[in-house]
Amino acid sequence: MLSVGAVSKAYQNRRVLNEVSFAMNSGERVALMGPSGSGKSTLLNCLSGLDTPDEGTIIFDGEELTRLSPDERTLLRRGRLGSIFQFFHLLPTLTALENVALSLQLNNYSASEQAQLAMDMLEEVDVAHRAKAFPREMSGGEMQRVAIARALVIKPKLLLADEPTGNLDTKNGERVLNLIEALSEAHQVGLILVTHQEETTRICHRTLHIHDGILSEDALESRA
Ligand SMILES: Nc1ncnc2c1ncn2[C@@H]1O[C@H](COP(=O)(O)OP(=O)(O)O)[C@@H](O)[C@H]1O
Ligand SMILES: [Mg+2]
Repeated sequence: MLSVGAVSKAYQNRRVLNEVSFAMNSGERVALMGPSGSGKSTLLNCLSGLDTPDEGTIIFDGEELTRLSPDERTLLRRGRLGSIFQFFHLLPTLTALENVALSLQLNNYSASEQAQLAMDMLEEVDVAHRAKAFPREMSGGEMQRVAIARALVIKPKLLLADEPTGNLDTKNGERVLNLIEALSEAHQVGLILVTHQEETTRICHRTLHIHDGILSEDALESRA
């Protein structure tokens, strides 16, 4: 489903990713751990097509990302990938329902499909009762559940999660984590989960470690 081969990336002559290689199967959940500044977000951005590697290959769902035009990468990102972030990144001027419906609108679903599928997805993450609320009116846990709904409503192959519990208290963090695991399992969505906390890797099959842009896999920890 995803195959990353010798991906390197530099910013101002400093190598942030150094020949990173790994592969994952459909529905597999992989944790990515590493200190601040080790290249985790840069790697996710290369996978999502928001950023481009200087060297190397990324084959996602049968397509070589680095050979696509920027427009083609945007279409792929909108249609086959979901992303969630530490600070949720919901659009502040849209309600919860509208934030989720926007993902569908960008993929040319009809207005009635948008309303129905977005509402169904909000129910699945247990925030349907907040459908008309704006982000500023919601708790962190609610906002992250809306963000998960927005990411998964298009039925992506892969969910990229950049420290999704980093801004939540323990209880809400647990709830969000359990939800991600359950939805990944139910819909066979692959997951790359960036985290600082060892505990958070429990929902993943394998753990990758990154230090100064160099990736390694901890074989002892592998539960695949
Ligand atoms: N757009 C950018 N321009 C210049 N340097 C960047 C940019 N994005 C990230 N970096 C640098 O690359 C390194 C890795 O960053 P990042 O991938 O965000 O790390 P992490 O997510 O592991 O904390 C950091 O030193 C950061 O300062
Ligand atoms: Mg980061």
